[in-house]
Amino acid sequence: DIKKLYEIYDSLADKEVIVKGWLKNNRAQKEFGFIDLNDGTSFKSIQVVYEEGKLDNFKDVSKYNVGSAITVIGQVVLTPKMKQAFEIKAREVILEGESSEDYPIQPKRHSREFLRENAHFRPRTNLFNAVFRVRSVVSFAIHKFFQERNFVYLHAPIITASDAEGAGEMFQVTTLGKEKPEEGYKNDFFGKKANLSVSGQLQAEAYALAFKNVYTFGPTFRAEKSNTSRHASEFWMIEPEIAFSDLNDDMQLAEDMVKYIIKDLFDLCPDELQFFNQFVEKGLIDKLKNVLNSTFKRITHKEATDILLENNDQFTFKAEVGQDLATEHEKFLTKYFNGPVFVIDWPKDIKAFYMRLNDDGQTVAAMDLLVPGAGELIGGSQREERLEYLEKRMEEMNVHDEDLWWYKELRKYGGNKHAGYGLGLERMIMYVTGVDNIRDVIPFPRTPKNCDF
Ligand code: 4AD
Ligand code: MG
Repeated sequence: DIKKLYEIYDSLADKEVIVKGWLKNNRAQKEFGFIDLNDGTSFKSIQVVYEEGKLDNFKDVSKYNVGSAITVIGQVVLTPKMKQAFEIKAREVILEGESSEDYPIQPKRHSREFLRENAHFRPRTNLFNAVFRVRSVVSFAIHKFFQERNFVYLHAPIITASDAEGAGEMFQVTTLGKEKPEEGYKNDFFGKKANLSVSGQLQAEAYALAFKNVYTFGPTFRAEKSNTSRHASEFWMIEPEIAFSDLNDDMQLAEDMVKYIIKDLFDLCPDELQFFNQFVEKGLIDKLKNVLNSTFKRITHKEATDILLENNDQFTFKAEVGQDLATEHEKFLTKYFNGPVFVIDWPKDIKAFYMRLNDDGQTVAAMDLLVPGAGELIGGSQREERLEYLEKRMEEMNVHDEDLWWYKELRKYGGNKHAGYGLGLERMIMYVTGVDNIRDVIPFPRTPKNCDF
């Protein structure tokens, strides 16, 4: 691997190595040429030098197009005076898979929009190589975090009858009438209405009331029409649920998790972070270091609103008492506090039916974690464990209880104080890479009207 080569090239001086990868650039002159070769294990490429007279197929190699898959056998030569620390002097270059001249990813700067239209090739670019390795590392860090704390990993269903957020933003499941094709598509799941899950929380609650601490980690779906840089129709969510716990325990868990992920990234992806810091978000590394050394601020929704009202002349969308936070408000608050901030105790009318009513009868025990850049990173709450309160809230919010009979039963049989939250994986990746569009942190993004590939 090229990653390994960069780690141990010193000890390989003058030795022969075999490297397989994709040709990123080929600059051929009359008697010699240079290939930039990348194999995806590192976003750094290596330089291969080849010479007329040393290669039987010099003429062919000099014509290999960008994007070709090749094997290079050659000697490691240390080049301490050059930009790169070493290069490979080729003894043999083998074409494994050719690439045509019209390969869209040429060695120049491409726009993010162009690369989205080439989602099948973009992982071969530096930026996306780094982004998607970070996505993999962060995912594994999240599993490690919960597994080290004895949480049980729950696979929540993807097809479900319930609308976990009560917001009606579901994609419905349809069945193809296979036996009688003339009947076409049926708007149901074998005769029952069903949709793609918007959240695994309700099922996680059932399992937390058996295993104490659980988490889900899987795809979730939202039929929101909003075409923003932070919303996707399909995204991955991590939803821990903790029994015998309240909102403070919930926030502590979220804060520990965020710090754990960042710390793991510093350990495992220092080169990628350096790259993002230089090319994507200046100051990213300092921002993340500050997070590790800080205690996240906690303010109530009312306190947040007061701050916004004092600065209302700055906003296009004016802040009002009892109102949800707009993106620009979230931005302002994270700037104001210069780091992550939990907003708690939200007005009950703008939050989901399952959140626990506070003693004031007006607010619920909810928390949103806002971070600079990505905005709302986490949304969570303490759950309403009192059946009569839950039923009243469901009625008020027009949530159909026939679908949720089982959810209500959890309150009747061994229910207790419990809480949880949802982390949007993509928001986390945006936060730690500085990439500002959700379409660029999902391998094949699903946003309204976008489901090619
Ligand atoms: O705030 P949300 O809607 O909360 C829930 O789904 C709860 N059931 C979570 C829980 O308490 N177990 O979503 C949680 C997080 C958001 O903070 C955001 O990071 C992400 O999921 N998210 C989205 N990410 C991308 N695209 C979308 N359309 C998203 N909607 C929510
Ligand atoms: Mg939310």
